[in-house]
Amino acid sequence: MKSVPQKRMLIVDFGGQLTQLIARRLREAGVYCEIKPFQLVSAKFLQEEFRPAAIVLSGGPASVCDDGCPLPPPELYELGIPVLGICYGQQAMMAQLGGKVERGGKREFGRALLASRNGGAAHRLFEGMFRSGPETVWMSHGDVVTELAPGFEAVASSENAPLAVVADFERRFVGVQFHPEAHHTPNGSALLWNFARMAGFEAEWNMGRYKDEAMALVRAQAGSGHVICAVSGGVDSTVAAALIQAAIPGRITCIFVDSGLLRTGEATSVTGLFRKHFNIPLRFVDASAEFLARLKGVKDPEAKRKIIGGAFVDVFKREARTITEAGFLAQGTLYPDVVESVSVSGGPSSTIKTHHNVGGLPEELGFELVEPLRFLFKDEVRALGRELGVPEQFIGRHPSPGPGLAIRCLGKVSRKKLRILRRADSIFLDQIRRHGLYDDIWQAFAVLAPVRTVGVMGDGRTYERVCVLRAVTSVDGMTADYYRFSHEFLAETANRIVNEVSGINRVAYDITSKPPGTIEWE
Ligand code: XMP
Repeated sequence: MKSVPQKRMLIVDFGGQLTQLIARRLREAGVYCEIKPFQLVSAKFLQEEFRPAAIVLSGGPASVCDDGCPLPPPELYELGIPVLGICYGQQAMMAQLGGKVERGGKREFGRALLASRNGGAAHRLFEGMFRSGPETVWMSHGDVVTELAPGFEAVASSENAPLAVVADFERRFVGVQFHPEAHHTPNGSALLWNFARMAGFEAEWNMGRYKDEAMALVRAQAGSGHVICAVSGGVDSTVAAALIQAAIPGRITCIFVDSGLLRTGEATSVTGLFRKHFNIPLRFVDASAEFLARLKGVKDPEAKRKIIGGAFVDVFKREARTITEAGFLAQGTLYPDVVESVSVSGGPSSTIKTHHNVGGLPEELGFELVEPLRFLFKDEVRALGRELGVPEQFIGRHPSPGPGLAIRCLGKVSRKKLRILRRADSIFLDQIRRHGLYDDIWQAFAVLAPVRTVGVMGDGRTYERVCVLRAVTSVDGMTADYYRFSHEFLAETANRIVNEVSGINRVAYDITSKPPGTIEWE
């Protein structure tokens, strides 16, 4: 794949919770990097295939004190390139190069203070750190390095990790016990950037450059062929379509499927906006009757997701067949979906929810897949969209799940419940817009709970449904926190919903973060 720079950093993933954040931080600094699970990183992969200019060894849940722990091939240290080991990565590097790691008596989780030792912290690698004494960092570890590997020196210590930062400046190997990629390590990005600079990287990864290279790649892949693309109005599918149209004008057709599970006015506003801004043929397919019929009586969340995914494939297949010239299918697949999640124990990593994103389509249809965003994080897609002149109404739109309202109408889905849910949801969003909060929130929606509660309205008893409001802040949807509305906002919104939506007599606000919750309720 040539749309990415030849000079690239490799992040070897040992199953760390924060591995994707390492990549995000480096990319933000203009450094192109890719994550590969440790199982794929052989000596041959390093020397002949990927040929990285520098390597980061990620954190992970394993212990180097255990037999059979995951380790990179020893040849990794013979490549003559800089290596940064983070947390488990530091311990793996020390153990492999002749140092010693032991199970820590005291674990360190959360904020810690690092004190510099022996002047090593004055090295340009630590520029921007230790400026006013001890450095605040974020730690999460049980094991500690207790003996330096030959050639290394101690750079900084924390209370429970005397060798919290170690370095062999000559070989350009660095090990840090803390997580520079974590938000709670304020100067962590400086360390990552200094490391990249030491490896000769310049801040050259940006979306202007990516745009030109990705367009050239689409041209090369599609030749004189025609591409079809399912669009939802979301930022990913819209940017993918805009990029393809820019690369091969007039040779893309978009399809918008109305599943009957969309929000109030969503189909009209998305297709209207799309037609207004893009000179791309857009087919509108009303498949609501089919989706709702297939969902009838189904209660289980996973079964609902599978039915919706299956219905989408069938509808799309029918439509696609009528576009006879199409040989390619574009998808807005993003990097987080491409990164294989590593299971350090070797077992399959558990499925929390089946995200459908048109999975399974290309094989069934015999299309060749075009995925121009597969190396990008969501914020990069937004930047690319701006480069392509995609309007802000698409770029700033809250993410919307493929299964739509079906996973917010808990339990069995029916037209009646969807009607009630839509009304409550549109009042909630109207309130958010009126108060100017839309852009501060990652995602906001209403959920219709499958329970009824007793209430009183006028002089009469009511026995109606509960509506739950959910609004979260997030950087990438992987973790999230609930949005802090004012009490006045919540009271006004609840009041409007109960008064304006017949069928709902109680409103609750979800204050669960992710984890342990997820953003959607099903
Ligand atoms: P969860 O509920 O897993 O959601 O915390 C994380 C993000 O993913 C969205 N989501 C989906 N998106 N197809 C999608 O395209 C799906 O099946 C799906 N399920 C959840 C969710 O809205 C949130 O932004």
